[in-house]
Amino acid sequence: MRGGEQTKITNCAVYPGSFDPITFGHISVVRRALKIFDRIIVAVAINTSKRNTFSVTERVRMMRKIFQGEKDVEVASFSGLLVDYVRQKGAQAILRGIRTMTDFDYEFQMALANKSLDPRVEQVFMMTEGKYLYYSSSIIKEIVALGGSVREMVPAIVEVNLRKKLWKTQTRTAR
Ligand code: PNS
Repeated sequence: MRGGEQTKITNCAVYPGSFDPITFGHISVVRRALKIFDRIIVAVAINTSKRNTFSVTERVRMMRKIFQGEKDVEVASFSGLLVDYVRQKGAQAILRGIRTMTDFDYEFQMALANKSLDPRVEQVFMMTEGKYLYYSSSIIKEIVALGGSVREMVPAIVEVNLRKKLWKTQTRTAR
């Protein structure tokens, strides 16, 4: 430290997930977590074994538009072990949102696995706000596929792209 200057230590968390697609519930977790962390890296997992509606590139592109102008939020993608990515980014923690007890079981299992892989990485869980409790990416996709509105659940850019995507899927499978 020079001349009494304070060195700012950036307190950064990686918020990993499939985000297929991102919902207002996820966005709320990011914004609330910024009260605790200086920086959040929202990281889309590249998981080839999972059938996703949007490609990783499409998800990252939409999410960058959603968070544009928010300098403390970075949107990226990663492959391989999450704990390796966290270390590579110089982050201190993994951030996840929890809605229900079912989420808790899944999160607890993943948290224990991550802890055994790298005990230095801490994991922080945020309870979802009540109004977002029932927002899940799969329910949202089903609503859109059946012609319902998800305006209250996802940003407009996501709703528009979901409609394009699910409409195409339906016509392709109908042939
Ligand atoms: O949104 P999701 O699908 O519940 O996110 C799951 C995710 C991406 C957080 C999880 O699958 C993950 O961490 N994948 C990276 C691979 C890894 O590190 N696996 C071992 C720990 S579970």
